[in-house]
Amino acid sequence: MNPGRRPVIVGNWKMNPDHTSALALARECAGVADEAGDQVTVGVAIPYVWLSPVEEIVEGSRLQIGAQDVSPHVSGAFTGDISAGMIEPWCDFAIVGHSERRQHHGETDEEIRDKIAALHSAGMTALLCVGETASQRADGSAREVVAGQLQRATTGLTGTGQPPLQVAYEPVWAIGTGVSAEPDDVQDMASHIRAVLAQIAPVLAETTPILYGGSVTAANSQQFLNCADIDGALVGGASLKGSEFAGIVRAVREI
Ligand code: PGA
Repeated sequence: MNPGRRPVIVGNWKMNPDHTSALALARECAGVADEAGDQVTVGVAIPYVWLSPVEEIVEGSRLQIGAQDVSPHVSGAFTGDISAGMIEPWCDFAIVGHSERRQHHGETDEEIRDKIAALHSAGMTALLCVGETASQRADGSAREVVAGQLQRATTGLTGTGQPPLQVAYEPVWAIGTGVSAEPDDVQDMASHIRAVLAQIAPVLAETTPILYGGSVTAANSQQFLNCADIDGALVGGASLKGSEFAGIVRAVREI
């Protein structure tokens, strides 16, 4: 962690949970965010349909609310899609480029770039996910893959006059597997990401929080946050249990 950047912990609920549980979990997360105060930025990226009821329940708390995706388009004949303008009343941020969307929906870096632009036009933060697959790590191309994802998705960003960007390094093989990456490898990739950001705009390298994601738990979160270039965590499975999510935020506060 770097004292110049506030740590960021974001829960990614994915296609979970049901209505009743979502409201209960949101209340718990709001309590966690308020307890953390300005020590940690705490957010949850939740299914579109829960945005409005959750926002109502957590109104007045410090919990940041996000969507898990957004359309690159403003409006029009895009059946099933949701625009940045539609989520803006309830959202502070949206995830873009999650590997599950790249894999199951064939998302390209160019679409992801347009999604970031759409979020910025609506005044929201983009949480951009990048990461290599197991075979890319095995064949030694992980750094090149991640740099390419980052460069293509941020084409046109200048670092000035834009709401902020957050980057989550999520090795695909570590997501939902219970096998997290080694802290040394996470730090190595995070400093690489910061160097790529510096080529785009030096201010982006200084200000952009870089999160690690992939089987983060309350028990292992501190080792990632102890990496010099890591500023937070994107948490999937462990964010669905209020007590576990609270444990991750507590662990970060204790560093
Ligand atoms: P996980 O998911 O914590 O369950 O590995 C992380 C993510 O997909 O963002």
